[in-house]
Amino acid sequence: MPPPPTAGSERAVPPRAGDRVIETQGLTKAYRGGQLAVDRLDLAVPRGSVFGFLGPNGSGKTTTIRMLMGLIEPTAGSARVLGATMPGAGRRVLPRVGALIEGPALYGFLSGRDNLLRFDAADPTADPRTRAERVGRALERVGLAAAAGKKARAYSLGMKQRLGLASALLQPRELLVLDEPTNGLDPQGMREIRALVRELAADGTTVFLSSHLLDEVEQVCTHAAVMARGRLIIQGTVADLSATVLGSRGSGRLTVTTPDPADAVRVLKEQGVTDLRVTDDRVSGELPTTAGPDGQEPWELSDLNAALVHAGVRVRGFGAERPSLEDVFVHLTGEGFDVAG
Ligand SMILES: Nc1ncnc2c1ncn2[C@@H]1O[C@H](COP(=O)(O)OP(=O)(O)OP(=O)(O)O)[C@@H](O)[C@H]1O
Ligand SMILES: [Mg+2]
Repeated sequence: MPPPPTAGSERAVPPRAGDRVIETQGLTKAYRGGQLAVDRLDLAVPRGSVFGFLGPNGSGKTTTIRMLMGLIEPTAGSARVLGATMPGAGRRVLPRVGALIEGPALYGFLSGRDNLLRFDAADPTADPRTRAERVGRALERVGLAAAAGKKARAYSLGMKQRLGLASALLQPRELLVLDEPTNGLDPQGMREIRALVRELAADGTTVFLSSHLLDEVEQVCTHAAVMARGRLIIQGTVADLSATVLGSRGSGRLTVTTPDPADAVRVLKEQGVTDLRVTDDRVSGELPTTAGPDGQEPWELSDLNAALVHAGVRVRGFGAERPSLEDVFVHLTGEGFDVAG
């Protein structure tokens, strides 16, 4: 597939309809003697998206990624990556894809830096003259520069995960496929990886990442697909997924803490907030669904806060509870987000 006609400043142009970097049809995997690990999966990942592949433990995420990367053969169905059919086109396509799959294969007796030098040397397209520089940059990007000289067997799980990610970042890629990239990281490490994913996406890389953490996907992804027991439950933009539960649940509830509850109720009512309740210095209400008081513009939470402040209401606390992807999941499956049986 030719690259899309989006370069430099034209990057903001939305992807062409049908411009998908990953597309599967009826993709199915049955392991020997087991139930279906992936069951007739139709996945469509638009170019330029940060796509969250979400599902509880055992729902088939890694199995899907292994098929996408040509590491295992599907039992049925097909998978296209960057327009080419896998696993057949692997040699041609995989150099344009950076991948981090469960437990990166590292040499424990080599330092982090030497592991990356080896990975880079295994890439026939990588210029040896710029190898050290490339490796240095990748270590820098994942926050491993200081620990680069340490043997990989002495790395913590989070450090190994970072090193695996660095190996996926040695070359600029069109597509990054990351299986649970924040697995084993502490909260600070998770934030760093999320920031990195956003940065890569801003540079135009499509990022496909699996996760069993709903809030992580909510924070970093533009699109998501939700899996349960090998089946696709829903896919679309994160906003659309949230909207599927809005119909039944409203947009969420707002709570304002103020010494002026009566004024707050009046202002919030004008702003379209319904079901207003007052308990001492707390006013809570149901947020308007889609449009602001004029019925046109989409509203923002900050508008409500501004309206309160503008009317002289002393706002001491302001918080909203929106339906989360977890709500979406429970709403669609009727199950909690637990390990698949
Ligand atoms: N090599 C294998 N042989 C047999 N069954 C397997 C194999 N790998 C995975 N499975 C089974 O396939 C199903 C899906 O597993 P998979 O690893 O794809 O899930 P996952 O969504 O990646 O889970 P996690 O969040 O725990 O990584 C599970 O029921 C698992 O037990
Ligand atoms: Mg997995």
